[in-house]
Formats: sequence, structure tokens, C-alpha cells
Amino acid sequence: MSSCSIHHPRLFDPLRRDFSGLDTGYRLADGRVTRRHYLDSAASTLALDCARAVKDELLHHYANTHSTLHFSARIASHAYDWAHEQVLRFVRADPGRHTVFFAGSGCTAPLNRLARVLAARRPERNVVLVSLMEHHANDLPHRKHAGRAVPIPLTGEGQTLGAVDPAALERLLEQHRDQVNYVAVTAASNVTGIVNPVYDLAALAHAHGAWVIVDASQHLAHAPLPISDTGAVERELDAVVFSGHKLYAPGSPGGAIVRRTLLEGCEPDEVGGGMVEDVRLSDYQVTTRFPDREEAGTPDLLGAVQLGAVLNALQRAGMERIHAAEQRLLRRLLAELAAVPGARIYGDPDPDRTPRLGVVSFNLAGLEHGLVAAVLNDYHNVAVRNGCFCAHPYVRELLKPELWALDVDPDTGDAATLLKPWQGMIRASLGLYTTDEDIEALLVGIRDLLARSDDYRALYVVDADGDFHHRTFHAPAEALFDPERALDRALARLSATNAAPW
Ligand SMILES: Cc1ncc(COP(=O)(O)O)c(C=O)c1O
Repeated sequence: MSSCSIHHPRLFDPLRRDFSGLDTGYRLADGRVTRRHYLDSAASTLALDCARAVKDELLHHYANTHSTLHFSARIASHAYDWAHEQVLRFVRADPGRHTVFFAGSGCTAPLNRLARVLAARRPERNVVLVSLMEHHANDLPHRKHAGRAVPIPLTGEGQTLGAVDPAALERLLEQHRDQVNYVAVTAASNVTGIVNPVYDLAALAHAHGAWVIVDASQHLAHAPLPISDTGAVERELDAVVFSGHKLYAPGSPGGAIVRRTLLEGCEPDEVGGGMVEDVRLSDYQVTTRFPDREEAGTPDLLGAVQLGAVLNALQRAGMERIHAAEQRLLRRLLAELAAVPGARIYGDPDPDRTPRLGVVSFNLAGLEHGLVAAVLNDYHNVAVRNGCFCAHPYVRELLKPELWALDVDPDTGDAATLLKPWQGMIRASLGLYTTDEDIEALLVGIRDLLARSDDYRALYVVDADGDFHHRTFHAPAEALFDPERALDRALARLSATNAAPW
């Protein structure tokens, strides 16, 4: 039995605390120095230290892959294979039928690649169905490379929109019969955390001869996502993409788990070293080996191994357990936020009716999202994100009723400027390390802002982009962390070591 199929229930708590940056402090606008409350995990998660330790240890053997002759190359090649195995095992994929390839620094690169490859496979099917709740990364590549992108509507409407509507998908598949190449849908939204019924959607797509690409960037670290829920091929996801930096492995690549038959028999999208059997001046012969044929060039060995170590560790702690712990915090956040006067939570807020993962976007009536995010940061050390989260069509749909109520004529030249501070939301997102204390800090910050909103507003100026800047408190990045000073410190340590008598 492999080590990662053994659950270690007692690992859960130590693992939650094993992250770099949990005790990072900053000086705030009122002069206090407090611990940062990191509620921006949907953008990038913090680094799991035990996985980073694996990477650091591997550095002692560092060499390029693609050879097994010298010791270090043998180790590098083995570790890189191991990283692929961890990904496939994590989603219970069949290594005989599936492959995983790493690419880029997030899922954007694999998504562009898949769009190009799948379009080239079936040019006669020139329609792709893309859900309305996609991040631009799972929308624009399909628009650019794969033909006509038709949006798939969601259930519900306005502020309380729900998940992708299977009935609407079925109607579109009928309407574009024999034309739909694939369906692109997120497993969970980066705006609302709402979870889509991806296996039902896959079954519908397959019944119409379409494939399904699932963006698992917001799902994989937070809840189990097997490649098929029942093991039935009809309900299997054809391609699952993810970003390593949202999986507690910053500096690791993006990846795609793909059914091999989708890639086999056609020229890989990228060519170069490591993916050929032979090259002559007249031609070249691509290897049939997976994932080699999909990974031209020197791979991100260290990032991939760090990512593999995270996935192994998460499985040991138990993904069900991780999911349950996040759900408890999420429900607390939803309930307490709903009780805040004037708070609007986006997406169906009932997690029993519409399941969601640990992402909550909201607004406070009469307060610009930029002001809320700035005050939470400057006075409460709560790191949230604000704006449209690279999901403009979805955010605009969720905000529609409010923007209409603002009574700004969209045809006036000033409309864009007037609407800017109101076109967005505040997003709090959870990770394995998030605690009740972090949720409490957010709620305390919100209540404080609501109690003194005029005072706070007077402290800020807003720029043309809708960003709020404190009039007197400035904390430039280089004063908080300067890479050159960090290097100075490292070099000083080096000189101190060299000055030692030995
Ligand atoms: C759901 C979703 N898909 C895709 C992306 C794009 O990921 P990356 O920037 O890592 O390529 C993000 C990033 O926020 C996301 O949340």
C-alpha cells in the first residue's frame, strides 16, 4: 500500500500550522503591529513547509531530468515521475488511461494549450460552451482558439445566482447539435465558491459527443475531486486543470490531467527537447510516451516535486476532513456576515441548497469595495481582495440589480468613472490554515468600519481606478520587504560564516 493512501488523522492539526507566513506582522495606520490575517487564498495560498522541505532536500541532488545515468539525474528523473504520480493518484485517475502534464505558472498555460489542441482535433465542431461563472483563464483561451464561445446560464438570478444549470446546458447542446467540441466549466467559482455539478454536466456533454474541461483551480485544495464520481466513464471529466500556487505550493507549475486519447495521435502543441525519439534534418519523430510528449523542454522539477509533496500530505491528512473543517468556518462566515446590517453576499448564500467552498464575496451598502478592502488592511491587518477577480461577466451579472439602482446613465461619458468604485466586491477566501480568529478579525473590521464609516472615508482619497489611498499612512512595499536587503542579510550571514576560524 502506498504511504499516501494511509490516512493520518492526527496529522491534520499540525499540518494546518505548518505554513510560512502565518505569524507575519505589519505596522498598521494606528501604529499597532499585529499579525496578518490572510484571507486571500483564492488568489494564492501560503506555502506548506513540509512540502517545501522536500524541495529543499531535493536541491542537494539537483540536476536536470531526462537521464538516469549519473546519480543526481537518476534522482531528479525519479522525483519528477513521482510528482506526476501524486497528481494522478490525488484525483484517482488511471495512469494507464490518463496523463498529467505540467505547464506554465498556473492553469492559464494548460488551458490555452488544451483549447488549441482540442480545436485542432475536431475543427468541424467549432462551438464551445463556456459557463457564465468562469475566470477569464477558462474563457478567453476558448474564445481565441476554439471557435464560437456560447455562455451557459446559471440557475437563479441577480445577486443570488446559483450553479451552472444542467437543463440550460442540455438545451444548448441540443441547439448546437454535433457542433459542440467541448464544455468548459469551473469546479468551483473563484468569486462565490459555488460548486458546479461537474459529473452531471460531463454526462450531458458526453451524451452529445462533447468533451468537458474542468477548471479545478479553486477546488483541488479544498475538497475531494475524483476524475469520476461513480467510476463510470460517462461521468468522467476529460480534462482537469489546476494551479500549483493555489495548492500550497507557490512557485510550482500549472497542470492538466487529461484522458490520453484526447492527445494521442496528434502533434503535441509544443515541441523541443525531451519529447522526441529522433530528430533528422528532414523530420523528427515525437515520442509516444506520456507525459514526455506533452512536456517539451526542461521541466520545473522543484516546483512539481513540491506540489506532489503537498498533494501527498493533503491525502494523508484526509481531504474529507479538510473539506469538513473549511465548511464549518465558511458557514460561520456566511451566517455572521448575513447578520451584518447592509451586507450583501453574492451567489446563493444557502450552502445546503447550493454547495460552495471557502470563498465569500460581499459588499456593504453605501461603501465602495475599495474603501472596505483598504480599511480592513490598514486598520485591521486583514488581507482580502477586491474588484472583479478576473471574472467580469459573472461579477457584472451578480451586481446588475445594484448598478441599475445607482441610477447612472450608462450612455454618458462619465458612466465608467462614476461606476468604477461600485463595480466590484470584497472577497474573503479560506485556506487550510484559516482559523476562527481570522474570521473574527474580518468581522471586527467590518463592524468597526460600519460604526465609523464617515471618519474612515475622510482619511482616504480615491483614484481614477477606484482604488483608495490613505492620506497620511503609507507603507510602500520596499519598506515592508526589499529583495535587495534580503540579499544583503543573506550575504552578511555568508561573510559571518566565512569569518569563522575554520
Ligand atoms: C477559477 C480560476 N481559474 C483560473 C485561474 C487562473 O489561474 P492562474 O493565474 O494560476 O493561471 C484562477 C486564478 O485566480 C482561478 O481562480
